[in-house]
Amino acid sequence: MTPKNQIAIFASGNGSNFEAIAHACAENRLNAKVALLVCDNPDAFVVQRAKKFDIPVFEIQPKNYTTKADYETEIMQILKKYNIDLICLAGYMRLVSDVLLNEYEGKIINIHPSLLPAFKGLNAIQQAFEYGVKLTGVTTHFVDKTMDGGKIIEQVAVSAENCTLEELETRIHAVEHELYVNTIHKLQTHYQL
Ligand code: GAR
Repeated sequence: MTPKNQIAIFASGNGSNFEAIAHACAENRLNAKVALLVCDNPDAFVVQRAKKFDIPVFEIQPKNYTTKADYETEIMQILKKYNIDLICLAGYMRLVSDVLLNEYEGKIINIHPSLLPAFKGLNAIQQAFEYGVKLTGVTTHFVDKTMDGGKIIEQVAVSAENCTLEELETRIHAVEHELYVNTIHKLQTHYQL
C-alpha cells in the first residue's frame, strides 16, 4: 500500500470542510492524514475542531511579518517539518503567493462555493442568491496567484430554486463536504501526489 499523503489544511474560520476531511481520514475513507492545520486567525472555530481530532495547529499572524514572502517562508518551514505533500485551502481567506506556489506546484487546492468562474471572492453563496441564479454549485480547483483562480478539478451543480439563502447555504455546504473528499481521492488516484 502506498504511504499515506500528509495533508496540511489552511483555514481562517469555521472549519466545517476541515472537519469533513479530517473525518474521512480518521475513518480511512481517504488514505491520507491531516497532519497539520495552518490557521491565520487565533479566534477561528477551526482551532477547536483540530483539538478534537488531536491535529497540531500552526497559528500564524500575517501582521507579524513585513512581507508576504517572509510569512510564507515561515509556513513553509513547518510544512517541511511535517513532510506535507498536499495543501488544502478550506476557507483560507488569503491569496497564496510565489514562495508556496513554487515549492508546492500542483499540490495546492481550494474549494469555492460557486460554479467558477462565477461569483469569486467573499460571500459567494449570497452573491449567487442575490443575483437570482437558478443553478449554482461548488468548485474544487488548483490554486494560482489569483483569487479563486486556477485549473478546475471538479464541479457539482446545486439548484438555487425555491429556497431561502440559509437553505441554499445548507445545500452547498453539504455538497462541499462530500466533494472535497472526492477531489482529494481523485488527485491521489490520477495525479500521484
Ligand atoms: C466554504 O464555503 C468555502 O467554500 C469558502 O469558505 C467556506 C469555509 O467554510 N471558501 C471561499 O469562499 C474561498 N474563496 P468552512 O470554514 O466551514 O469550511
